[in-house]
Amino acid sequence: MAVDLLLGLQWGDEGKGKIVDVLTKDYDIIARFQGGPNAGHTLIFDGTKHVLHTIPSGIFHKTAMNVVGNGVVIDPVIFKKELENLDKHKIDYTSKLLISRKAHLILPTHRLLDAASETSKGKAKIGSTLKGIGPTYMDKTGRNGMRVGDLELENWKEKYDALTEKHLKMLQFFDVQVEFNLDELEAEFIRGIDKLRNLQFIDSEEYLNQAIKAKKTILAEGAQGSLLDIDFGTYPFVTSSNTTAAGACTGLGVAPNKIGEVYGIFKAYTTRVGSGPFPTELFDKDGETMASVGHEFGATTGRPRRCGWLDLVALKYAVDVNGVTQLMMMKGDVLSGFESLKICTSYVYQGKEITHFPYNIEPENISVKYTEFKGWKADLTGMTNQEQLPKNLLDYIAFIEQETGVPVTIVSVGPDRKQTITRK
Ligand code: GDP
Ligand code: IMO
Ligand code: MG
Repeated sequence: MAVDLLLGLQWGDEGKGKIVDVLTKDYDIIARFQGGPNAGHTLIFDGTKHVLHTIPSGIFHKTAMNVVGNGVVIDPVIFKKELENLDKHKIDYTSKLLISRKAHLILPTHRLLDAASETSKGKAKIGSTLKGIGPTYMDKTGRNGMRVGDLELENWKEKYDALTEKHLKMLQFFDVQVEFNLDELEAEFIRGIDKLRNLQFIDSEEYLNQAIKAKKTILAEGAQGSLLDIDFGTYPFVTSSNTTAAGACTGLGVAPNKIGEVYGIFKAYTTRVGSGPFPTELFDKDGETMASVGHEFGATTGRPRRCGWLDLVALKYAVDVNGVTQLMMMKGDVLSGFESLKICTSYVYQGKEITHFPYNIEPENISVKYTEFKGWKADLTGMTNQEQLPKNLLDYIAFIEQETGVPVTIVSVGPDRKQTITRK
């Protein structure tokens, strides 16, 4: 059986959590493969909203197993809070949530290094979520990191102390002051580790490959989005992992020839949180309408998200880099009421019109060209099948399908699990 992937095609927050939850009934295993608590995946059902950061979005279903893969970075402090939220809702996760021994741990001092790095950059800061993601992946690739499997060793605390010591020295290299109480941070970290130990630590690549052989169905859940990918995103304003399809292979230990469907999720417009270029960003009433109707505030940091028109140049790039086989369009309901809509169909890059995503999309190099579409007035949020969708919305979708060559198989018309229209 193949492993299907679900990935964000923009700058994150496309609605991955919602759709993983919707699709979980069709899968035996849901597996996160990269990122960490920088992610905020929102699920709404039965009148309750849940936000998950590290735990896979299949956790609310009784049937599915949930795996945190080797490519993920785990902060035990945040993980503990997520588990406590599940406790509140009486979700039995102990038999359903498995953690890779090879996943790296975010230490409190990784968070401090993230803060120091961002502060010292001043205006040039990445706008990171300050969860310690960059420093943890740096320790991973630098071969200094601490992994979940280390917690099973007698001397894990010595490893922790040595790495913490090193980080404290590194902090002194920054020309900024970061306030902290190391004893408190350490006590909180150890409480997090104690909670984490209630879960099964596994060799997740072995578990998943055996599951493939046993013909189990697996859905890999991406975090962030393709334009935040460390290689293919808008570097340096990116995250520190491969958010694109290849990241699922390295982040789970699953071979490329085992990948089946690649579901690419995008919003009907575009948002970005944090710094970095955004060619179709709006600074007018239209952008404000998207932000207020779409409640565009970060699920992890609460920061307002920047909003703009759909960027088809970037979307086609993400479709190619990921090998997307099905598209899923989110938040079309937010665009109801606009007289006309725009989709960016080409860039003018250093004086020449181009339709591919170039090396540098900083505003000084790029201007955008739009194709206009007629808007629709109808409220989509109560619609349940595609026959009800307004013609102008279907034209908007048909244009995207024609330009990308990929069918849009799900149209999401609201945040609730039920507000999801499947298209044949
Ligand atoms: P993720 O990080 O990709 O899982 O996305 P987030 O949860 O960070 O952000 C998506 C936001 O949009 C959340 O607040 C969702 O509840 C909400 N949402 C998801 N799909 C829809 C939709 O079709 N319409 C509307 N109005 N909101 C949606
Ligand atoms: P989900 O999974 C949106 C952004 C940050 C910042 C940059 C680097 O919910 O879609 P980091 O903390 O990773 O070093 O920050 O990436 N970012 C996200 N933006 N959604 C996310 O995750 C994000 N995770 C990181 O805002 O610009
Ligand atoms: Mg999010």
